Amino acid sequence: MYFKAEKFFVLVIFFGNIMENASKLEFTNIKCHATDPAFLNFEYCFIKSVNRSYKYISLKANIYKVPITNASAKLQISRRFWSYMPITIAASIDVCKFMASKKNLANPMLRLFEEITTSYTNTNHKCPYDHDLVIDRLPSQFLSEHFTNILPLPPGDYSFNSIWYSKNIERATICIYSTIS
Ligand SMILES: *[C@@H]1O[C@H](CO)[C@@H](O)[C@H](O)[C@H]1NC(C)=O
Ligand SMILES: *[C@@H]1O[C@H](CO)[C@@H](O)[C@H](O)[C@H]1NC(C)=O
Repeated sequence: MYFKAEKFFVLVIFFGNIMENASKLEFTNIKCHATDPAFLNFEYCFIKSVNRSYKYISLKANIYKVPITNASAKLQISRRFWSYMPITIAASIDVCKFMASKKNLANPMLRLFEEITTSYTNTNHKCPYDHDLVIDRLPSQFLSEHFTNILPLPPGDYSFNSIWYSKNIERATICIYSTIS
């Protein structure tokens, strides 16, 4: 299994109040944290608001322990009530296994991951990764169009929290805060 997501979707559906209209996702904040600064560090990590309709995320991680031959990630979505509360079970992806085969593209979350990787990163190849990792101008518009079709979340404030591992050791966290309206 590259991705354990059945409960992920079920919970969101139970969460209810799903909108039929197209919803709009906007980035509000991003936090990148190097849990293991001997392994990697973030050279930059920001949201840029070009104008009302064009906002994007860019980040660059300098990798000190190349080559990376093993990478995985956990994603969890939280919604803000008084504080941020998880509304999904953490979904996991074995990045190197997935990039080696590009299988399971029928899974919408994996397909989104694949599309982001192809269009907005320098990681669109099989492991090992022997270079710095870059996300280059990922627009909120792109995520809004693709993501809200996959997981139609009700309007609110959300955090998309990802934890990145190599050889099962936590190396970094990236948290993207967004508003869905
Ligand atoms: C926003 O900026 C982008 C990139 O510079 C441009 O292509 C687009 O036309 C702009 N949109 C508006 C509404 O100004
Ligand atoms: C990555 O490392 C973890 C922990 O050693 C292991 O469980 C996992 O199978 C590895 N993945 C690959 C694709 O080798």
